[in-house]
Amino acid sequence: MTTHTIPRTMTAWRQHAYGPADVVRAETVPVPTPGRREVLLRVAAASLNSGDIHLMRGEPRVVRLFFGIRRPRTRGRGMDVAGTVVALGADVDGLAVGDLVVGAGSETLAEFVVMKADRLTTLPAGLDPVVAATLPVAGNTAVTILDACRVGQGSKVLLVGAGGGVGTLTAALAVERGADVWATCGSRAEQVLRDLGVAHTVDYRTHDVATLPAGAFDAVVDIAGEPPLEVLRDRLREGGTVALVGGHGHPFWGPFPRIIRALLLSRRARRFRSVTAVTKTPVTAELVRMAAAGVLRPVIERTFPLSDAGAAIAHVDAGHTVGKVVVVAD
Ligand SMILES: NC(=O)c1ccc[n+]([C@@H]2O[C@H](COP(=O)([O-])OP(=O)(O)OC[C@H]3O[C@@H](n4cnc5c(N)ncnc54)[C@H](OP(=O)(O)O)[C@@H]3O)[C@@H](O)[C@H]2O)c1
Repeated sequence: MTTHTIPRTMTAWRQHAYGPADVVRAETVPVPTPGRREVLLRVAAASLNSGDIHLMRGEPRVVRLFFGIRRPRTRGRGMDVAGTVVALGADVDGLAVGDLVVGAGSETLAEFVVMKADRLTTLPAGLDPVVAATLPVAGNTAVTILDACRVGQGSKVLLVGAGGGVGTLTAALAVERGADVWATCGSRAEQVLRDLGVAHTVDYRTHDVATLPAGAFDAVVDIAGEPPLEVLRDRLREGGTVALVGGHGHPFWGPFPRIIRALLLSRRARRFRSVTAVTKTPVTAELVRMAAAGVLRPVIERTFPLSDAGAAIAHVDAGHTVGKVVVVAD
């Protein structure tokens, strides 16, 4: 193993029980050692995602079947990361100590994190790691949504619940593909979305989705998970797709009852698709390239220092973010 100067211990934000934001606390733990095809990163920035909140709370309950029945098996939170390679495990090709990289893994809310080398993309010169750290999970989700709905030049797209990290990136990428984008969001996000090129914004607290044009959209993207499925389906043109992406869903089963109902309501000409995003390194690389070229400008609502990551988690847990929240190294 090739190493840099690395301390023995570090600060990491970890939890030993499911619960609200205050279960995640700063701990002093050993700096991990990279194994085969892994590297150790000094974390520069880690963005937060709704997935961190689901894992923190163990909600919906069904996630506990996969991530730990009584407490999360993986104690550290954080998935997205941008940072500097400071040590290489065995059999790592294409990365060197000192490289600035970005990718998705786990336990990234820490001073150092071990990452699989093939999950990382090198940052182009000049791209701020804080910006890069917003891209892996939410950016891959946005690309998966737009591909599932075949959004391209001239598509008319309605994003329902577009104010958060997934929504703002989906909006920006849909506009970049040449789509005519409409969005529902909270009032604080309306100008932000219009600045991204969204043609029409609607405050969800004062306007029902049912008041938007019927039979008008090639794609309806349900990020909020609240409007009735029939209302979403009726916004579609013939041949259109409703993408089911987010929302709280059932306390135990989460989105599954809504997905099953949606499948029953699907019509050949107006169908539902459930979206499950997987983070792919080539997609992240393309998003990073777009951000470096200034074609994609992720919305960053706030940054928090690592020493105050608990406040960042509480902020995202409250559910009112506009764009992304990023934790940066102290
Ligand atoms: N399927 C997948 O693979 C996948 C991947 C990633 C995320 N997700 C899901 O996608 C959803 C979005 O996640 P996120 O992290 O981007 O954002 P988020 O934190 O869930 O979104 C917060 C934003 O949504 C707005 N909002 C809340 N309810 C709304 C409604 N009924 N209509 C319109 N806007 C509403 C809020 O506005 P106010 O503050 O004004 O209320 C706030 O700006 C989550 O449910 C997450 O679990 C799914």
